[in-house]
Amino acid sequence: MADGPARIEGYAIVSEDGMLANSAGVMPDSLKFEADQTFFADGLDHCDAVVHGRHSHEQQPHSPQRKRITLTHAVAALGPDPGNEKGVLWNPAGARLDQVWTALGIEGGTLGVIGGTDAFGMFLVHYNVFYLTRAPGVTLPGGRPVFPEVPRLTPEQVMTQHGLAQQEERTLDAAKGLIVHVWRRG
Ligand SMILES: NC(=O)c1ccc[n+]([C@@H]2O[C@H](COP(=O)([O-])OP(=O)(O)OC[C@H]3O[C@@H](n4cnc5c(N)ncnc54)[C@H](OP(=O)(O)O)[C@@H]3O)[C@@H](O)[C@H]2O)c1
Repeated sequence: MADGPARIEGYAIVSEDGMLANSAGVMPDSLKFEADQTFFADGLDHCDAVVHGRHSHEQQPHSPQRKRITLTHAVAALGPDPGNEKGVLWNPAGARLDQVWTALGIEGGTLGVIGGTDAFGMFLVHYNVFYLTRAPGVTLPGGRPVFPEVPRLTPEQVMTQHGLAQQEERTLDAAKGLIVHVWRRG
């Protein structure tokens, strides 16, 4: 993406059936693990901005310091976020990502994509890396999927179809069987 971020990273924790929230649109405690939250926070600390849908937010100690792009249809294109001086509101139907990046005053750098479903889906052809943590033994029938194509396809099938390949696994919490799967392009 010319003049936009040099690197795009995705971060998600999902159930065994590929859901990031339950059928009520709420992320349940069964998807919350200290080791994953530490991994996620450390990753975002290396990003120059985060992007997410209007119903998502990482709720971390460093969140107020981050440049933030909130997806919403409430603006036609791009505008300031009235609730956050470091934030912008973005409707991709009216403005390109490189325009958002310029508005935030960033050159090159890394964008962290943190969900939900549509945000994760939007960047599938652009991720340099996607960190997919699996919550062992958790299923969320009828929940909100990590990508729009889930559950017709598994998250792994979706990423493979978009040119990503699993290149690494990192154990985050051995006692809990918590593993992050690292998918990279090329
Ligand atoms: N497990 C995980 O890793 C993870 C990650 C992220 C979120 N979550 C959880 O997932 C739940 C929310 O996810 P969600 O998918 O339901 O909602 P979401 O993506 O956070 O928010 C959806 C809203 O974002 C805006 N939006 C999304 N795509 C857009 C587009 N292309 N153009 C314009 N606006 C767009 C719309 O806002 P408007 O209505 O204002 O137009 C839409 O209603 C929460 O419980 C959250 O905690 C979990």
